[in-house]
Amino acid sequence: MKPNDTQSRAMFARAAKVLPHGVSSNFRYWGDDETLVAARAKGASLWDLDGNRYIDYRLAFGPIILGHAHERVDASVRAALENGISFAMTNPYEVQVAEKITKLCPGVEMLRFTSSGTEATMHALRTARAFTGRQKVLKFEGHYHGMHDYLLWSTDGSPRNLGARNDPIPVAASSGIPRAIRDLIITLPFNDRELLERTLRQSWFDVAAIILEPIMGNCAAIEPQDEFLKFIRARCDEYGIVMIMDEVKTGFRVAKGGAQELFGVTADLATYAKALGNGYPVAAFGGRREIMSLIGKGVAHAGTYSANVVGMAAADAVLNILSTTDALQVVAARGRALQKGISDVLEAADLPFTISGHPSMFGIMFTGSTPREFRDWVNSDKHTYESIMTNLIRRGVMPDPDSREPWFLSAAHSEADVAETLNAFEEAVKETKQAH
Ligand SMILES: Cc1ncc(COP(=O)(O)O)c(C=O)c1O
Repeated sequence: MKPNDTQSRAMFARAAKVLPHGVSSNFRYWGDDETLVAARAKGASLWDLDGNRYIDYRLAFGPIILGHAHERVDASVRAALENGISFAMTNPYEVQVAEKITKLCPGVEMLRFTSSGTEATMHALRTARAFTGRQKVLKFEGHYHGMHDYLLWSTDGSPRNLGARNDPIPVAASSGIPRAIRDLIITLPFNDRELLERTLRQSWFDVAAIILEPIMGNCAAIEPQDEFLKFIRARCDEYGIVMIMDEVKTGFRVAKGGAQELFGVTADLATYAKALGNGYPVAAFGGRREIMSLIGKGVAHAGTYSANVVGMAAADAVLNILSTTDALQVVAARGRALQKGISDVLEAADLPFTISGHPSMFGIMFTGSTPREFRDWVNSDKHTYESIMTNLIRRGVMPDPDSREPWFLSAAHSEADVAETLNAFEEAVKETKQAH
């Protein structure tokens, strides 16, 4: 995407011989001639292999809440490393971190650590099934909960294969997912109370859990509307369904206590990852004591690397910083300034757009009306978005070119970074308009 990408191209060619698609996660592939190779990152900046610097708004798909290579977090990890990192035993770090999480996160009375968000949602779902004795899970179109077969449904697709809005077809997002799992899943558009109510009236007795992203962190940060989260909470209470809030992207980002604090809605179970470790691999699922207490008493959860000291030492430092500083206020302030500047540029350019989400993670869509669900994103003008972002990346500002992925802010983004971003954004928009 940059004129000088010689080193990236050469390394990518090597990568493609040994890593399918040249990447270690499908979402990282931008095309054979576009996929960049990272060399290093510090604060809000990322450098590719050719030495090009970018103001980073991808932030590794969200985790980097304090900035890349954060000194206090890294020092905490370094100090802990001296004494070994994996013991297959409880360690004091994990107790300390668990205590902090239960203090910060509403509704989390007990938790278990995992190493990824995927593992966290997988175990939360199993626990909900065990608690209710029911098998089905209800999820929303465009909500992403990781890579396991039970929830990798209707994360992608078009209205054609997703079926009619009032009778959606669950669509597996990968070959290799057993067809039989489709019998265990119900998918619905987000933010539709009537459809949810009607669906539950028909099949609540089979539904173990409703899982959701409180802000659609994998679809342009579309927000819950008309108190939809409270509506889900009430329906779960009415029908004895476990409400699972997937806070993998929102946790320790939109507020210290995540979306549950932000929206004042307490789920039965919640999942965390990303910002909890500022990039170090750590995740968790937790919630009501009554439900979590089943684990170990008939419900299986394990993981060789669960609560390894690297992740725990990182999380410990992150939680200390978030608890004792105004880091999240800084993140939100930078995000607000950016949202305002982007709005000004797009209004001046006379492009119909919406900005949704929270200042710390927000999405831009080229559409005339407020998006409520995945199908609104499908119908938005993704071509204009991609064109502007491609021009922006060429100018050294890097959001993800896919408009589903929000712009992420960190406490390391400075006012100068925001100003530089807005200048580049204005030029990128002009270039796109001229090209059309
Ligand atoms: C909301 C949400 N849940 C779960 C996951 C899966 O997390 P991981 O990639 O750590 O497995 C993601 C990853 O982006 C996510 O955004």
